[in-house]
Amino acid sequence: MRPTYLEVNLPRLKRNLENIRTHVAPAKVMAVLKANAYGHGVDGVASFIAPFVDYIGVALVEEGVHLRELGIDKPILVMGATLPEQVPGFIKYNLTLAAASPELLDAAEETARAAQTKFKVHLKIDTGMERIGVHEYEAGPFIEKSLACRHLDIEGIFTHFANSESPDLIHARLQLERFQEVLAIYEKLGAPNPPIRHAANSGAVLNFPESYFDMVRPGVMFYGVYPGRDAQRTVVVRPALTWRSQVAFSKVTRPGRPVSYGSLWQAERPARIVTVPCGYADGYFRRMTNRARVIVNGKKYPQVGRICMDQFMVNLGDDEARIGDEIILLGQAASGERITVEDFAEWSGTNEYEVMTNISARVPRVFVE
Ligand SMILES: Cc1ncc(COP(=O)(O)O)c(C=O)c1O
Repeated sequence: MRPTYLEVNLPRLKRNLENIRTHVAPAKVMAVLKANAYGHGVDGVASFIAPFVDYIGVALVEEGVHLRELGIDKPILVMGATLPEQVPGFIKYNLTLAAASPELLDAAEETARAAQTKFKVHLKIDTGMERIGVHEYEAGPFIEKSLACRHLDIEGIFTHFANSESPDLIHARLQLERFQEVLAIYEKLGAPNPPIRHAANSGAVLNFPESYFDMVRPGVMFYGVYPGRDAQRTVVVRPALTWRSQVAFSKVTRPGRPVSYGSLWQAERPARIVTVPCGYADGYFRRMTNRARVIVNGKKYPQVGRICMDQFMVNLGDDEARIGDEIILLGQAASGERITVEDFAEWSGTNEYEVMTNISARVPRVFVE
């Protein structure tokens, strides 16, 4: 196997889920497994965690189909935008559609009628994210239409927050108020109880208990990572990833001999430079060049010279290392030294979500139970 791989600690994910569940009870929990389970490897994560979740959230219908083909039988909501021609897939694979427009609702009803079946739909309300969904000020006719759909099981209604991780909840409160106005429409229409109501992503789970309703949708915090530095840490979660590699080459480099493409770095005196068999094609961002740190044999060292597609170099200075020695790119070493997803985000100028979802398919995932 490749010496560079991603170790995924599954029991830790389960503990994160349990901590979230205890915190939000009696609300149910939808685990968000989109984007290859935030880079963790959806096959291993979904198979292990499915028995413990109430619902699964994905972004794309293809992701839902993939989970069904894996044998996952929990309800799956496809939260992202769906085109009308994709609707038959929801029936075939028993997926829940996010109906984000009256047109999509019509297409869903018509497709179900033609197939002489019924399938599950959650109404998507846009209360201020301005991404997909029916605006709260147009929700009345949309809800009325949904109540008339004889071939759909309108199982849920939801919205999504744009700023719930921020300590200042002004925008999130405004979104919540708008969502509550929409929910009140059911009463005005004399309709039976509204369907399953959900709104909270990780930021809201941590900061905003008023938004839990019947179910929450944590993504990033399920993976043990907080949604930004400002989020309150009201639930304890711990990361599950250790990105491992091994020293693949080791040499002493002299001053006057710059390291890697572009000659961006050179040693001031002879230095032990080791080569790591991992690069930007694996999701080790090129823009972390000369900024990242790596743990070699339990100790942290600077990455030096341009990060290449498949390899990069680390400066051990006067220390020694042999071929095959342990390297940790991300995660905690037995020595206690640690490199976090937050460190990667800072070195590369992005957020924690992009760091995790960019670890490429070329890096094998090893699931530890
Ligand atoms: C509709 C929806 N709900 C929930 C989530 C989970 O968000 P987070 O990872 O911030 O918890 C996402 C992810 O972006 C989403 O798009």
